[in-house]
Amino acid sequence: MKALSSFAVLAAGAGVSGCTWMLPEESHGSQPSLMWLQSALITSGPNAEAIRTLSWVMFAGGAAIFLLVLTFTAHAVFGGTRRGWMSGHRFVIVFGVAMPIAVLTILLVYGLMLTGHSAARENPVARIEVVGERWWWRVNYLDPQGERLASANEIRVPVGAPVEFILRSNDVIHSFWVPSLAGKLDMIPGRVNRYQFSAARPGVYRGQCAEYCGAQHALMAFYVVAVERENYPAWLADQRRPANDPVTELGAKGKELFIATGCGACHTVRGTAASGQIGPDLTHFGSRRSIAAGSFPNNAGTVAGWIASAQHLKPGNLMPSFANLRGEELRAIAEYLEGLK
Ligand code: CUA
Repeated sequence: MKALSSFAVLAAGAGVSGCTWMLPEESHGSQPSLMWLQSALITSGPNAEAIRTLSWVMFAGGAAIFLLVLTFTAHAVFGGTRRGWMSGHRFVIVFGVAMPIAVLTILLVYGLMLTGHSAARENPVARIEVVGERWWWRVNYLDPQGERLASANEIRVPVGAPVEFILRSNDVIHSFWVPSLAGKLDMIPGRVNRYQFSAARPGVYRGQCAEYCGAQHALMAFYVVAVERENYPAWLADQRRPANDPVTELGAKGKELFIATGCGACHTVRGTAASGQIGPDLTHFGSRRSIAAGSFPNNAGTVAGWIASAQHLKPGNLMPSFANLRGEELRAIAEYLEGLK
C-alpha cells in the first residue's frame, strides 16, 4: 500500500511539474548534471515519443477490452434468462473472430505508420559505431572518411540533431536500448544494424543491454550524454588528442605500474606504449562517469577495487583480478587512470 501511494505521489508530481522526471545529480566534469530516469515513458526525442504514444494506446485499448470481457463474464454468470444470445454462433463470430482481426489489423497499421515515420532517415550530424562485447560497449566515433575514434561505455551526442548508430557484435546477440531516446535494436554477430535518433534535451540517459547475453547481461549498461550542439565539435576534437601525462608523483608511479603490469596488452591509452584492443580504450577514461559498463561510479576507490577484484565484482568478464598488487600500487594506478581526462 505504501509503495502504491508513493507511486501515485510520484506520478502526480511528475504530471504536474513536467520536469521532475529528471533527477538532479552532481556535475561530473564537463558533463550535464541532469540524470534522466531510465524509462520508455519518460521520453526525449521523436523516436521514443512514438513508442510512448503506442504504449499508451495499447494500454488504453487493453484496459477497454479487459472491461468488455469482465462485463460479458458478469452477464454470463448473473444474466439469468437474458444471457441466451451469448451462446449463439453470431456472438462467437463477432467477438471471437471479427473483432480480434479488426483490432489487430488497425493496431498493426497504426504501429507501422507511427514507428515508420519516426525512423525516417535524415542526414546525420554524427555517426557512431557501437559494438557489443561481453559485457561492455565498444564505442567508435566515425569521421566523414570513416576513421574511428575509440571510446567505451559512454556515448556523447549533440542535442536536437539526428545521430546514426551503426550496431555490431563481436560475440553473441546483444540489444542496444536507451528507453528515453529510442526503441531497442539488436546487435547481431556478422550483421550490421543501423538506425538513427536524436535527443531533444540535454542530460544523461541510461541505456541497458536488452537481450540476454550471458552471466553479466544485467551489468551491461551505458550512458548517453547529450550536450548542446555547439559544444560537440570541441568535445570531439578534445577526444582526438592523446592521453594526458600524469601531473602528480603518485600518478607518474601509476603510469609506470600500468605499463609494467601489462595492462597495455588489453587496453589502449593513446600516446603511451599501451595499445591492446581486447578491453575498453582508456585514453580519456577519467572523463567517463562509470566503470565496468555502468556497474560502478568512476572514482579512485572503485577503480582500485575493480583492478584488484574484477572477477569478484563481475564474474566471468575478461578482466582478470590483480590480487597480487598492493594497496599503494592500486592507488597509484587508479590515480593515473583518474587523471586521463
Ligand atoms: Cu549484452 Cu545482454
